[in-house]
Amino acid sequence: MVWALRGAFLLQALLGIGLSRAFLGMRALGAPSGEGDMHMLIGTIAAVLAIIVLKPEPGDASPSMVTLARFFPLVPLVAGLMVWPRLGIGMSSAGFVVLHIVLGIAAIGLVEMTIAKRRRRALS
Ligand code: HEM
Repeated sequence: MVWALRGAFLLQALLGIGLSRAFLGMRALGAPSGEGDMHMLIGTIAAVLAIIVLKPEPGDASPSMVTLARFFPLVPLVAGLMVWPRLGIGMSSAGFVVLHIVLGIAAIGLVEMTIAKRRRRALS
């Protein structure tokens, strides 16, 4: 399950980088697209997997950080859903999408940090 979680976030980041070509004028920001829909779907799966996989474990060095990593992906997900053109909220300004990207990278960092800490603990 840990590899499914990591794979989902890796795929999510790659799709996000692809969508970011909008900042170079190579596509319209917030325009409906199959890859945007895929980014939404993988993001939802990744956020649910984080909640399932990162359940608290006895021996976690910092349980509050694990809880943060577990639920934080919901924050970029909600921001992303506000960008997702098919919902029609239309928060697709460059500034808001940049905020979404920063939140997404923070979520991936927290998840990776938690997985790495658990692996180090298991090895020691
Ligand atoms: C937990 C991580 C993330 C989640 C849950 C998430 C979710 C979403 C969702 C639901 C959308 C709306 C899809 C659409 O516009 O069609 C979106 C848009 C977008 N995301 Fe993410 N995202 C995440 C991380 C990232 C990262 C790391 C990047 C960049 C490296 C990124 C770049 C973008 C861009 C550029 C858009 C705007 C796409 C457009 O113009 O339509 N996202 N994201």
